[in-house]
Amino acid sequence: MIGKIKQLLKQKNAVLVAHYYVEAKLQILAETTGGIVSDSLEMARFGQNCDVDTIIVAGVKFMGETAKILSPEKRVLVLDTHATCSLDEYCPIDQFSTFCDQYPDRTVVVYANTSAQVKARADWVVTSGSALNVVKHLKDNGKKILWAPDKHLGHYVQTQTNADMLLWQGACVVHERFKADALKVLKVLHPEAAVLVHPESPQEVVALADVVGSTTALINAVKNRKEQTFIIATDNGIFHKMHEVAPNKKLIEAPTMGEGADCESCAHCEWMSMNTLENCLSTLKTGNNEIFINTDIRKKAKNAIQKLLDFTA
Ligand code: 13P
Ligand code: SF4
Repeated sequence: MIGKIKQLLKQKNAVLVAHYYVEAKLQILAETTGGIVSDSLEMARFGQNCDVDTIIVAGVKFMGETAKILSPEKRVLVLDTHATCSLDEYCPIDQFSTFCDQYPDRTVVVYANTSAQVKARADWVVTSGSALNVVKHLKDNGKKILWAPDKHLGHYVQTQTNADMLLWQGACVVHERFKADALKVLKVLHPEAAVLVHPESPQEVVALADVVGSTTALINAVKNRKEQTFIIATDNGIFHKMHEVAPNKKLIEAPTMGEGADCESCAHCEWMSMNTLENCLSTLKTGNNEIFINTDIRKKAKNAIQKLLDFTA
């Protein structure tokens, strides 16, 4: 199957762009065929810069849409059109637009985990790796912010920057499962460990972290920090890359089942796991699952994303 996929990628002048949360086989395939495995910001940037006819996105719908917004001349295919994200699903454009209309004095900043329509309604798009710096910049320029959709990331950014932020109340169903009480117990069992937390996690969990950051920041922490043991509060798909960059370090999943729990294998996004080698092959064969975005929406969304790309260049 891997051989066939490699052959079709070449034949169709296509590149595979994968997120750190998808299964290891797809991550390896992306990296060994000239593609990339990365966080959502770099996925977007890579697709825009590479000279191919087709971008195959192993991730979730908003990642495919972002690739299409930035590369309208390329064909963008996702592996499963049902692979979505709770943050995107619970921020429908009609309600969001009404919310924005109520606060015309605020700069609208949305997380990348949103639909193309929501991005088109925004002034800025940010990712977990860029949110802090963008919001700091806006605050320094006297802006008040309307933030959507992740309330946990929004709260984290608010506390770090002291910006005036009005928060949409969305959440990631995966990161919301991490439990602070059980994490405290695990920390007692592993006092030598550093705790790494993605900022989509609840604030009580973020408060226990030694490092809070995007997927890339957490991988870099495992690679560069002196500790040999890490407790990780993010999707466990990331363990593949962490093991690769630091093969001798011990990685423990943060608990997800409440006080006293020893759950060590619950933190995985069901939508990310819809990405498989099988549907990678069938997508390449059939050309199904193409992303299309209305031109007006695409142009408006592009403006908001481009600001981020320029800001982080
Ligand atoms: P980053 O990879 O940008 O940290 O975002 C994680 C995420 O929400 C993907 O589902
Ligand atoms: Fe969305 Fe959370 Fe899944 Fe990422 S892990 S795609 S934020 S539901």
